[in-house]
Amino acid sequence: MEIIKSIPEMKQWSNRVRESHKTIGLVPTMGSLHAGHMSLVQKSVSTCDVTVASIFINPVQFGKNEDLDTYPQDLEGDQRQLESAGVDVVFLPSRQDMYPDGYKTFVSVEGITNHLCGKNRPGFFQGVATVVLKLFNIVRPHTGFFGDKDWQQATVVETLLRDLNIDAAIERLPIVRESGGLAKSSRNLYLSQEEMAPALSLYCALERARQRVQNGEFSADVIRQEIRQMIEKNQQAKIDYISVCDPENFIEHDEIKDKSLIALAVHIGKTRLIDNCIVRRAECKE
Ligand code: PAF
Repeated sequence: MEIIKSIPEMKQWSNRVRESHKTIGLVPTMGSLHAGHMSLVQKSVSTCDVTVASIFINPVQFGKNEDLDTYPQDLEGDQRQLESAGVDVVFLPSRQDMYPDGYKTFVSVEGITNHLCGKNRPGFFQGVATVVLKLFNIVRPHTGFFGDKDWQQATVVETLLRDLNIDAAIERLPIVRESGGLAKSSRNLYLSQEEMAPALSLYCALERARQRVQNGEFSADVIRQEIRQMIEKNQQAKIDYISVCDPENFIEHDEIKDKSLIALAVHIGKTRLIDNCIVRRAECKE
């Protein structure tokens, strides 16, 4: 496995691979890799000729009071996992190379970023869109791999690539969960033992909502209210949002449709967790 730190070297590598007509898969990450990331890596390794995993803690997607300085890091552990999964290149650009002094250009995807995570994390999606576009321009992958835990992020990236005519496909893969149901996330490392039960309430509330839809409850308000009650039973939980909405434009639904997204963001102590599921009216058993 090659480690490439310089942007020009990464571009040269990609040009060589493209000239040899091989397909490139890119898994963009901020490191501290877990089974969720590794499912993306495995998919890329099994479907593309070569796989690049990038590790870059992107400063421009963090808000002022967020965890940029404490974001978990484990470069050695990450490299070990990537090597044994068969990754060809780990791309490790520096902050200075990605955003040199005088850097001025940011990309924003309009509309869909005003909802859910975009509401309370101003600048977040602009930061994500900017770094993803930069990574796609540098690595020039045929396919980029993103997880559905960050459903809105994956949709923003799909929109960005479509609107800016970037010739790359996006493959989205399902959420990977801990045995109890907690969605895998690098930020789970922040959770204390006492916070694990409240953290699990996100998954439990989503599962309960799914059952309620299957049993014929289609009122989005009732579903939101029941989720709120389940999560607020935990004193450490502070709800950021509970949304029952369209999975593509994130406009709130009055009632469950053919396909609705239920998405949650909840602070458990100092840790902000997100989770989601898709529910369908057709899944109703009655
Ligand atoms: O999901 C993440 O880890 C980041 O938002 C991403 C896509 C790597 C961009 O920095």
